[in-house]
Amino acid sequence: MRLRRLWLTDFRNYTSAEVELAPAGLTVVSGGNGQGKTNLLEAIAYLATLDSFRGAPADALVRTGCATAVVRAEGDRSGRALLIEAEIAASGRSRTLVNSQPLRRAADLLGALRVSVFSPGDLELVKGGPAARRRYLDDALVGLHPRNAAVRSDLEKVLRQRNALLKQCKGRLDASAESTLDVWDAKLAATGAALADARAALVAALEAPLGKAYGQLAGSPADVGITYERSWPGPLDDALAAARTDDVRRGLSTVGPHRDELSLSIAGLAARTHASQGEQRSMALGLRLAAHRVVTDAVGEPPVLLLDDVFSELDADRSAALLAHLPDGQILLTTAGGLPAGAFPALTVQVHGGGIIL
Ligand SMILES: Nc1ncnc2c1ncn2[C@@H]1O[C@H](COP(=O)(O)OP(=O)(O)O)[C@@H](O)[C@H]1O
Ligand SMILES: [Mg+2]
Repeated sequence: MRLRRLWLTDFRNYTSAEVELAPAGLTVVSGGNGQGKTNLLEAIAYLATLDSFRGAPADALVRTGCATAVVRAEGDRSGRALLIEAEIAASGRSRTLVNSQPLRRAADLLGALRVSVFSPGDLELVKGGPAARRRYLDDALVGLHPRNAAVRSDLEKVLRQRNALLKQCKGRLDASAESTLDVWDAKLAATGAALADARAALVAALEAPLGKAYGQLAGSPADVGITYERSWPGPLDDALAAARTDDVRRGLSTVGPHRDELSLSIAGLAARTHASQGEQRSMALGLRLAAHRVVTDAVGEPPVLLLDDVFSELDADRSAALLAHLPDGQILLTTAGGLPAGAFPALTVQVHGGGIIL
């Protein structure tokens, strides 16, 4: 899938802009700090997920003083014309049209446009706590199959309900609370096992492309490890039963996929604690490129790859290596500085003060 043209109205610092994109190869988005480069990528990613990859709420996406923002993009997908239009209200209510048809549910959008995003904040994937790594896996699962979004939200819902019940009973389970807990446990066991299995299968698929991407960035083959670690042994229903007394006493759910870890290593050492900053950055980018590869293979066409400020994250050699091994498909890359040698963009878009310089 690829986008040819993008329109922004009152989105972030853009009043009104029309952006031409190279349908294949590299579009470089260039401009000084704070001019609107990341905002441009954020707008594209919004059309794929109806969400900000910076985790910003809807009102932050609407230009200050305005009630609504509109993001519109035209392109094609599997040879068919694709038009996506999103109206974002500062109040939080948003409306989306795909090929001029309103979406009945937000979930219906998923899969119309896919994006893979790398941003400097992704260093957290390696340095931060396990929640960011679980989110990485779950986002990739949604990219693979939109229905995984429902599995993820079902799990969140059952965990909320179970935790609320555990809190309510303040360490003592009466008969009625016990039978309700049985219901939540059955649901948690089913959805939780399904999600953990899907994550583990994804991790197995990520291993080879991660090793390859990391080795290319580093300039030599590297022994990169990626393993999914469940927070429980054996079947999840048994583990929930075994943890029940403890969960009731503590008022929270101590086992399940919400406590699982994705462990990463380089040359056998934990990347979070032992890798250098440069290695951690390459690992973060490698994780995004690997997920991009896995989704490309499964879906049959590459998502739009959005690389935000990636050169600020890499030294000169690694920047050159990235450029030499960019995947096929449409890529947008932002940069505040110049381009490293070896960059041959299909198009350069110059951004200044929330506008496009033509
Ligand atoms: N809702 C908004 N309304 C108006 N301006 C905004 C809004 N959100 C962000 N901005 C402005 O956008 C600029 C940042 O744009 P950004 O795309 O992050 O810059 P960069 O080019 O460095 O990536 C800042 O100057 C910020 O004040
Ligand atoms: Mg930026």
